[in-house]
Amino acid sequence: MINFMKSNMNHFSYEDWKKYFEKNNTHRLAIPFQNDTLTDKEKKLIFSSICKFEQGEYSDGKHLKKVADIFAKKIHDNDYKYCIRWFIKEENAHSGYLKSYMEHYNVCVKENVVLDNIFRKLRKLAGLRCEVIVLVTAEIIALSYYDALMNATKSHALKAICRQMLHDEIPHIMFQSYTLSHFKNKFYIKFIRILFMQITSIVTWVSCYKVFTSAGWTFKKFMRNNFYYLSQSIKLSTV
Ligand SMILES: [Fe+2]
Ligand SMILES: [Fe+2]
Repeated sequence: MINFMKSNMNHFSYEDWKKYFEKNNTHRLAIPFQNDTLTDKEKKLIFSSICKFEQGEYSDGKHLKKVADIFAKKIHDNDYKYCIRWFIKEENAHSGYLKSYMEHYNVCVKENVVLDNIFRKLRKLAGLRCEVIVLVTAEIIALSYYDALMNATKSHALKAICRQMLHDEIPHIMFQSYTLSHFKNKFYIKFIRILFMQITSIVTWVSCYKVFTSAGWTFKKFMRNNFYYLSQSIKLSTV
């Protein structure tokens, strides 16, 4: 497990984050599809959850951009507007990786992803604070998911995608935590985040447990991982 507290990104301003996103955008993944193979058993195991995460990663970002612009004006920091646009672009690239992988294997799973729909509705309930709490919860769970998915098959293309996701999602969590540090009512936010993490973790485990268990994860390990990253994110958002 990674300790965020040791990263120099902890001290990033939005100007630093903007530079980070710009630089990271020049290192997009070329998925190594050559000689990639999956057994039928592996396909059955992974594609249902990959479809859920592919949809979860995608967003037009309309509401997020709107509330981010209000927040940027309020804190007198225009860089946040650019950071959010880079962030949305990066998340859509994540969705693109998973979509390419599904297309490579001619998988066209279109599920009505209940959890994703709930996430989207919750994000739009209120302002930026609500958006960021929902986003960072999903990103923490994504860390556990991509870690497990990386070990659930022998596909080197999928492993490369998961590595890229983990590489990008850790800074995302730190970036969102920094944004949450700007808000008041820290105790209330902490309570909401813990409660929301508990509910979301249970729902995710129920719908994706096959991937986790095939990679050797137990429910206990999954919860421990999620709450370890949540506690670090809370620490970063209360400094
Ligand atoms: Fe992502
Ligand atoms: Fe993310």
